[in-house]
Amino acid sequence: MVDFEQIKGFVFDLDGVIANTSAYHAKAWHQLADELGVEWTDDLANQLKGVSRMDSLNLILKSGGKENDYTEDEKKKFAAEKNDNYLKLLETLDSSEILPGMGEFIKDISERHYLISLASSSKNSPRVLEKLNLAKYFNERVDPATLKHGKPDPEIYRRGAEILNLKPEECIGLEDAIAGVKSINGAGETSLGIGDSKLLHEADIIFKDTSQVTLENIKNAMLIPSR
Ligand code: BG6
Ligand code: MG
Repeated sequence: MVDFEQIKGFVFDLDGVIANTSAYHAKAWHQLADELGVEWTDDLANQLKGVSRMDSLNLILKSGGKENDYTEDEKKKFAAEKNDNYLKLLETLDSSEILPGMGEFIKDISERHYLISLASSSKNSPRVLEKLNLAKYFNERVDPATLKHGKPDPEIYRRGAEILNLKPEECIGLEDAIAGVKSINGAGETSLGIGDSKLLHEADIIFKDTSQVTLENIKNAMLIPSR
């Protein structure tokens, strides 16, 4: 692992790291899975975390053995329906739903002049950041519509460093998803996994929840890598 002193920037996932919107994604997918007659399990929910809209739908269909049952147009309709349901859940979203400590952490690193970018797979991320009143802290954002490959491919995190004009080894990526941790590691950045240490065991540093995410804790954890 690199030294903490080398770090110049942070590349953030959004859903499940900055706000609890991953629960809203899960709720909307669960609703669609029920309609399609696909059993909703914790394992499926974890597989979907961090994964793009169409890739998520394909994983749900595959899990139910229905991957060949629908045309591309029908699949687009299902994905649009999920997104409409997700957007309804976002209507009341505001800064009170920022996960514990994350507002303070983002403010702190911004004041200390670290560079900050967003590497979310979500096409709704600009809307979510605005609603959380956090958009002003982000120097750059990767537009997921411009990517060839979604998480776990490293492309999104590699781009997250590039748009800050930083080398991957100068960046820490923050993730709650297995696919996201793999993407950060593949990009050559330091991975900070937030959540279950069994699921996120590939991360360089693992914190059990967002309240542990402070510069001091990161600095200490970088002295004792978990991987
Ligand atoms: C990720 C979420 O951030 O974005 C996934 O973890 C979601 O659950 C993905 O499917 C794509 O989001 P959207 O808003 O473009 O459908
Ligand atoms: Mg996430």
